[in-house]
Amino acid sequence: MPGSNPQPVALVTGASGFLGGMLAAKLRSRDWVVVGIDRVPQPRLGVVTADIRDVATLGRALPRHIDIVIHMASLLSAFCEKNPAEAFDVNVAGTAKLLEVLADRGQPALLMASSIAVFNGVRATDDTPVRPSSAYGTSKVMAELLIADATRRGIVRGHAARLPTVAVRPGPPSGAASAFASTMVKNAFDGTDISVPVPAGQQIVLTSPTAAVENLYRLAETLVRERAIVPNTINVPGIAVDVDDIAQQCRAAAPATVRIRREIDPEVAAVVTSWPAGWDCPSAVRLGLQQDTSFADILADYRLRG
Ligand SMILES: NC(=O)c1ccc[n+]([C@@H]2O[C@H](COP(=O)([O-])OP(=O)(O)OC[C@H]3O[C@@H](n4cnc5c(N)ncnc54)[C@H](O)[C@@H]3O)[C@@H](O)[C@H]2O)c1
Repeated sequence: MPGSNPQPVALVTGASGFLGGMLAAKLRSRDWVVVGIDRVPQPRLGVVTADIRDVATLGRALPRHIDIVIHMASLLSAFCEKNPAEAFDVNVAGTAKLLEVLADRGQPALLMASSIAVFNGVRATDDTPVRPSSAYGTSKVMAELLIADATRRGIVRGHAARLPTVAVRPGPPSGAASAFASTMVKNAFDGTDISVPVPAGQQIVLTSPTAAVENLYRLAETLVRERAIVPNTINVPGIAVDVDDIAQQCRAAAPATVRIRREIDPEVAAVVTSWPAGWDCPSAVRLGLQQDTSFADILADYRLRG
């Protein structure tokens, strides 16, 4: 691509996290220079220890030239619902601090990992009005607005990628209300009973981590190497799956002793039932982003990643 930087520079916040770590590795494997920051140290992966709320440390840690900031650092949904003050401090005030430090970094592109939780209702498409009904969703909308305003002021060229629930996540459950979807799969493979914490008939929109990271990577390539037009907000592809179907498919893959038990968790159910169960992504389709075709694909992705 004429004029494009052969080795672009990405700043990845939240680089010690699940998706941030995978994305940083993917970018490096495709010849990007990655500066990863996170408040959780991860020196093995070259992550610089910095809290996004700490302007002085960020000022020292951030390179002078950045082609794109991929803003993944955040607290997750269930944790935010229990700790709203901390949620707004990290997800909103932290984003404002990050933008403050970016003011003299040459107006980089910025791609924020936003969420399906900005919506409420049966179905959402790219331009459905936001109507969050959780502290997490509200914090994501507020961060999106801060980025839009920083874009208006010429500090960054901002975009928000609204991700559906990413499953299957390895290791212990995250602070997300949707963590149960990953736990159902992990329990099934471990021979433990499958607990369904939401009412019958609940749909959830899912993407595999591989597809989510591939899509964030493609958006970064589109913004930086191809310099193509990307909308300011974009729904990232996912598939709507009935939670009871997930349970049945997990059960089919599990040892014969594994049972399905419905154990409604009112806090989880309140958050998850407020998210859209239908998901349209016309801009992502136009940009050629990837989509899992079925929950079986998502299970296969988990098995492949080990
Ligand atoms: N995983 C999902 O299902 C999902 C769905 C939709 C959106 N998202 C968004 O994607 C992003 C990444 O999610 P994830 O699943 O990898 O979460 P994660 O918890 O694994 O990673 C988030 C990282 O942010 C870091 N962080 C938190 N507060 C920080 C602070 N003040 N300063 C610096 N670093 C801080 C954490 O230490 C963690 O490493 C988040 O923005 C999340 O809201 C995730």
